[in-house]
Amino acid sequence: MNLKPVKVGLIGSGNISYTYLNTLTSGFKIVEVVGCSDLVPEKSKARAELFGIRQMSTEEILADPEIELVVNTTELWNHNKVTKMILEAGKNAYSEKAMGHTLEGARANYELAKSKGLFVGSAPDCYMGAAWQTARKLIDDGMIGIPLVAYSQCMRGYGANEQGGGKHPDPLAGTHGTTITYDMGGYYLNVLFNLFGPVKRASGFSKNFNGGRTYVNTQHPDYGKPFKSEGGESIMLGSLEFESGVYGCLVLCAEGFNPEVPRVDIYGTEGILTLPDPNNFGGWMNNVYLTRKGNPGEAFKVPFTHGFSDTDPDAPARSGNPEPCHNSWRGIAVVDMAYAIRRKREPRSNGDLALHTVEILNAIDSSNVDNQVHEIKTKPARPEMLTPGRYGQVTVMESSIDNINVS
Ligand SMILES: NC(=O)c1ccc[n+]([C@@H]2O[C@H](COP(=O)([O-])OP(=O)(O)OC[C@H]3O[C@@H](n4cnc5c(N)ncnc54)[C@H](O)[C@@H]3O)[C@@H](O)[C@H]2O)c1
Repeated sequence: MNLKPVKVGLIGSGNISYTYLNTLTSGFKIVEVVGCSDLVPEKSKARAELFGIRQMSTEEILADPEIELVVNTTELWNHNKVTKMILEAGKNAYSEKAMGHTLEGARANYELAKSKGLFVGSAPDCYMGAAWQTARKLIDDGMIGIPLVAYSQCMRGYGANEQGGGKHPDPLAGTHGTTITYDMGGYYLNVLFNLFGPVKRASGFSKNFNGGRTYVNTQHPDYGKPFKSEGGESIMLGSLEFESGVYGCLVLCAEGFNPEVPRVDIYGTEGILTLPDPNNFGGWMNNVYLTRKGNPGEAFKVPFTHGFSDTDPDAPARSGNPEPCHNSWRGIAVVDMAYAIRRKREPRSNGDLALHTVEILNAIDSSNVDNQVHEIKTKPARPEMLTPGRYGQVTVMESSIDNINVS
């Protein structure tokens, strides 16, 4: 069946817009990117020229009756605000992670989408990538027996205030919900959710660690003085109990060193899965290893059963500039949402999952304050696996996303 392509607009033509536009213009039949906007017109102009789409204002995107789905790649503290604008304009919304920097704002958008019969979803979608779908299949096929414990950690070196390359001038940057916990937590929670389904209870600790830090850049006007923190959490240790009975652990720390140390290990009754960085889709050192009971010394590197692995990280981006995550498939959940619109089914990365992630992070923060274990109210359905064995051209991999009619 030939489905009418879903017209897509993008708001926020900064760093990560590159990989979204690269993915969405790479030949998927179900999406047609119309244009992109930014508060800084030079940025949207550059992206529009590179990808052969229209430079638009945000108002033009929201008023365009043909655009059905809008991608929000603004900064984390703008997600709630811009997603609300998209939904109020009567369009389906997909935002970068997290869905919002406050649970209240995210929940309000969830309710707004429901009341309008629209979809709202958020990144990360790396769980749809080759490594994570392969891990999912191994678990579903019983290769590690009954999964018992999932250990996940992200040690990343960027301090309490910074999201990547330094303190952003926006006054919200570095405040609660804009630091490593909400910035990176979703990568880990989404891959664990893909493997085990929703979290039932969460508790833990979180804090802003700023002790003893000083400005180390000799050119900085405050060199040597104490580092000013906006108070957002920079270290989190979460305990998770999944509905399926698996116990999980989430460690996020912004005081790591380079290189970043990501880990996801799954221990089961019959084996161990050693999994790659959840910030990636798979391949190029991001592999899946299986250790089976009875042969503890040998970890097999498991060939991927699914498409959508990362492309060569050393191959230059189309822009010729360094672009973050340029070799990834970020945006395939937008493709899935486009199919969901046409098929009238739920997207894999739907509002329940987006809100679930924020609710878990909020629960861990709350637990730190009230010493309680928190029941998680959102109960998203575990997303359907992509169809295995579909490698190759984009259109072949595309059919693995739209597996609803595959026999
Ligand atoms: N940079 C990365 O490596 C990376 C990787 C993965 C995910 N992300 C996530 O992507 C999001 C964006 O990050 P980024 O690094 O691309 O940020 P960025 O600052 O480079 O880009 C954000 C852009 O949004 C624009 N913007 C803000 N409000 C707007 C509005 N109302 N209308 C139009 N444009 C608006 C800003 O002008 C800015 O150009 C964040 O949530 C971030 O966590 C970033």
